[in-house]
Amino acid sequence: MVLWVFGYGSLIWKAGFDYDERRVGFIKGYRRLFHQGSTDHRGTPANPGRTVTLEPDDGHTCWGVAYRVSGHEAEEIALSYLEVREKEYDQKAYLDFYFDEDSTEPAISGVLVYIASADKKLNKNYLGPVPLEMMAHQIVGAVGPSGPNIEYLFQLETALLEIGCKDSHVTDLANAVRKDLTCKHGDATSNGVAK
Ligand code: SIN
Repeated sequence: MVLWVFGYGSLIWKAGFDYDERRVGFIKGYRRLFHQGSTDHRGTPANPGRTVTLEPDDGHTCWGVAYRVSGHEAEEIALSYLEVREKEYDQKAYLDFYFDEDSTEPAISGVLVYIASADKKLNKNYLGPVPLEMMAHQIVGAVGPSGPNIEYLFQLETALLEIGCKDSHVTDLANAVRKDLTCKHGDATSNGVAK
C-alpha cells in the first residue's frame, strides 16, 4: 500500500509523520491563498490567524511537496495524524501531481490534498479575501498554540524559496507584514521618545 500526500502550506517544512520519499512538484488548477482562518494553530477563536488553502483557478499551478508513505501501519499513522492536524480543512481531494513543467502526463495520480473550502456552511473558519494590508495586520496580531502567525508565513516564504517556487501572493503578503512590523516598531520608538 502506498499513500502520497501533497503539502502546500506547513506540510512543506514540517511533515510530522514518517515517509519514504519527498518530491518537489505541483498540482494544476489551484491557487494557494491565505484565506483560511486558523483558530487552533496560528490563532484562537477570539483572534483567528490566517493559513493557506487552495482555491480552484484554471490558469494556475501550485508548487509544494509530495510525501510517499508505504505500508499499512505507516499509512494509518500518517492519516490519523493528519486528520487531527488538518481538522479545520473540510475537504480531501485526490489530485494529479507533476514533477516538471514540460510533462503533460502526471508523475503521480491520486495524491491526497487537504483543502479548506470557501463554503461557510461546511467550513466555518473560512475568511476569504480582504485587502493585503488588512490581511497582513491580522497575521501580525495573531498567535495560536502552534506559535505566532507571522512565523507560519515566514516559514512558508522560506520553504518555497528552498524548493525554487515563486508565489507572488506569499511574497507580497510577507512584504506587507514586514512593513506592518516596521510601522509598529517605528510607532513604539517615537512613543518612547515623546515620553
Ligand atoms: C498543507 O500544508 O498542505 C495544508 C495547509 C497547512 O497545514 O498549512
